[in-house]
Amino acid sequence: MSDQLSEQWRRAKVKINLEALSNNLSRVREFAADSKVMAVIKADAYGHGMLSAAKILTDADMFAVATLGEAYALRKDGCNKPIIVLHGFINTAELQEFSALGLSTVVHQQYQMECLLAAKLSSPIDCWLKVDTGMHRLGIHVDDVDAYFDKLKMCFNVADVFLMSHFSQSDDTVNIDNYNQLVSFINVNNRNGAVCSMANSAAIMRLPKSHFDIVRPGIMLYGSSPFKETTATELGLQAVMQFESMLIDKKEVKTGESIGYGSTFTCEKDTLVGVVAAGYGDGYSRHAKNGTPVWINNTRCNLIGRVSMDSLCIDLTGVSAELGDRVVLWGDELSVDEVARSCDSISYELLCNAGAAYKANR
Ligand SMILES: Cc1ncc(COP(=O)(O)O)c(C=O)c1O
Repeated sequence: MSDQLSEQWRRAKVKINLEALSNNLSRVREFAADSKVMAVIKADAYGHGMLSAAKILTDADMFAVATLGEAYALRKDGCNKPIIVLHGFINTAELQEFSALGLSTVVHQQYQMECLLAAKLSSPIDCWLKVDTGMHRLGIHVDDVDAYFDKLKMCFNVADVFLMSHFSQSDDTVNIDNYNQLVSFINVNNRNGAVCSMANSAAIMRLPKSHFDIVRPGIMLYGSSPFKETTATELGLQAVMQFESMLIDKKEVKTGESIGYGSTFTCEKDTLVGVVAAGYGDGYSRHAKNGTPVWINNTRCNLIGRVSMDSLCIDLTGVSAELGDRVVLWGDELSVDEVARSCDSISYELLCNAGAAYKANR
């Protein structure tokens, strides 16, 4: 059996619209015209395929990934843009690789500073000093940042020093924590005067004062809105991932009968149940609730019953649909943001899971 044939027989499929990715990068440029762009393509470009994303995002000034492994894969694939590794290095051996591959590191803890001071690198590397302005994940406490900055500046293994911080609640634009984090970061910058970066997607679109020299878009590149009250379309963003499958069965179920594992949905009327070939094994969330929208033949149907490993059920009553018909789980016809809300999740998770499952099942 050829690969092409096996692809033809697959049911749940992830299709990537690279043109939409390019369009969304243009939207970043429109929102933050005076800043450079560090495109965040970690986690396999949020499930969209890191290597192909990097090839399309030629207009980005630099890339951010989480790990050295991701950066290595990019370099091996011929990517020669600046790459910033958000987790930095964990030991001297990794640090040497940063130098060999021409990567920039984030510095977020004391141990990394000690490694940098002790190492003998073949060529110095750029360092992004991460300032903890309130997220309390990775980052140096604001009170200690000046000392770190000075040490990095003096270190012969360090080429340039940049400053970065990360918002914890930028999707909630009016949250006072954003203001406090911003003020804290501005104070650090004023004292040290480095090139700096703070804004993720939500801040790019709603907190222009946080743009500084370089913005760091992730989710908006992939066509999802970080805001509950504003859709991606309203923000001028286009869905990049199309997650589709097909109808593989339909049957009449009588009033009072239940659907699927755990009998979590009981029919309140005689119901035409459609079975779609997609489940949590394909990266669709098992937490999707009854009523989660699923699109078929220009109609939004409700998911009913619990999502299984490779199938889910929808209420097809009154809908004209045949076996083999295309079903959209999210994409152009149905926003991933809406589906994510119905799963008590976020688009980030859904996109990563569907992309990863599609790749793994190949
Ligand atoms: C440090 C950092 N910057 C930027 C981003 C991009 O964030 P978003 O996808 O919300 O734009 C991320 C994503 O998690 C991140 O960890």
